[in-house]
Amino acid sequence: MKKTITGVKPTGEMPHIIRGIENLKNIDSNKTLTCLTGARPSGRLHLGHYVGALSNWIQLQETSNIKTNFLIADYQVLGDHLGETEKLRNSVIDMVIDWLAVGLDPNKSNFIVQSYVPEFAELFNYLTMFVPYSLATNNPTLKDEMKKIEKRGETESNSISLGFINYPVSQVADIMLLGGEIVPVGEDQIPHIELSRKVIKKVNTMYSTNFPIPKALVSEFPRLVGIDGNDKMSKSLGNTIYLTSTLKEITSQVNKMYTDPGKTSIESKGNISKHVAFLYLDIFYKDKTHLDELKKRYIEGGPNSVGDGEIKKLLINVLEEFISPIRERREYYLKHMDIVVNSIEKGSANARIEGQKLIETLKKSMGLLDYGKEYL
Ligand code: TRP
Repeated sequence: MKKTITGVKPTGEMPHIIRGIENLKNIDSNKTLTCLTGARPSGRLHLGHYVGALSNWIQLQETSNIKTNFLIADYQVLGDHLGETEKLRNSVIDMVIDWLAVGLDPNKSNFIVQSYVPEFAELFNYLTMFVPYSLATNNPTLKDEMKKIEKRGETESNSISLGFINYPVSQVADIMLLGGEIVPVGEDQIPHIELSRKVIKKVNTMYSTNFPIPKALVSEFPRLVGIDGNDKMSKSLGNTIYLTSTLKEITSQVNKMYTDPGKTSIESKGNISKHVAFLYLDIFYKDKTHLDELKKRYIEGGPNSVGDGEIKKLLINVLEEFISPIRERREYYLKHMDIVVNSIEKGSANARIEGQKLIETLKKSMGLLDYGKEYL
């Protein structure tokens, strides 16, 4: 596929994929857009979550003509971790506290727990009938994930369940129930958006309904690498920096960052192409003129050069400045759990009201209401 310099695919090629929030703002300025996205509850969040998703979510929340819904996908965890519901309870709350701490706001957005809204399950039940078996099982993301689960070694309580196979269809229900038009997701979720489009179009065609056909909004930012330079920042690899790290944790993680092993002294020439501390500064350090100067000195070597110690010290300060307010807000919410609990109850209650309307419309269109009343 041909790419332009900026990585933006030529327009028209993939009309259901919007790359970059800027392109979204160009599309619709008058109409209100409904945005729905979700996450599997994964506990405390890290900088990778912020760069890849949350920063975009906050921008969407603050855009006046966009209605934002954020889903906590607890069903999706049951699909392959049925034996870990105790851990799930903590993961849900930890994730919601971090959402609040970074500035997602339950007064502006709906925080929705999937299992608090039975209408998701009801809609899902109908939608499964619209999905040919071959379409459900041919999903490349699902296949990848199934391979990973098999590798991990199944146990009775953590195996690939029928519910797991069905999760992309359940995700279609998540999107359709709330009329999601824009779905911010990572690249790996695009097959689920494509499935959603097929299924919702089929409902519309068969029953003359007019449910919105969603588009994916994919972040333009490259993925934030782990502190070891690994492509993915993930808890299991131990290469993360949590959004609520203490200064001590930030310092210890930054000091472990991969730099240039070839720069053996401050004065030797350096290479920054895989230098993790510089990659992070690119994202988090606002003074780009100073950053460019530091890079130049690092690369050139010589008496005016700069070493990893100084670069890392700068990054520690920059990250502490970014993280400390988030960490303080986390502390605040830990002492005000009522706000946390209310946020998910309120958002889920709103979703139920919306959802019931949609189910009513769908059942009416399918002729599934009031059996026999035509004879009365
Ligand atoms: N599968 C998504 C993930 O793993 C979470 C999710 C559930 C989702 N329902 C959704 C994303 C609906 C977008 C829309 O992160």
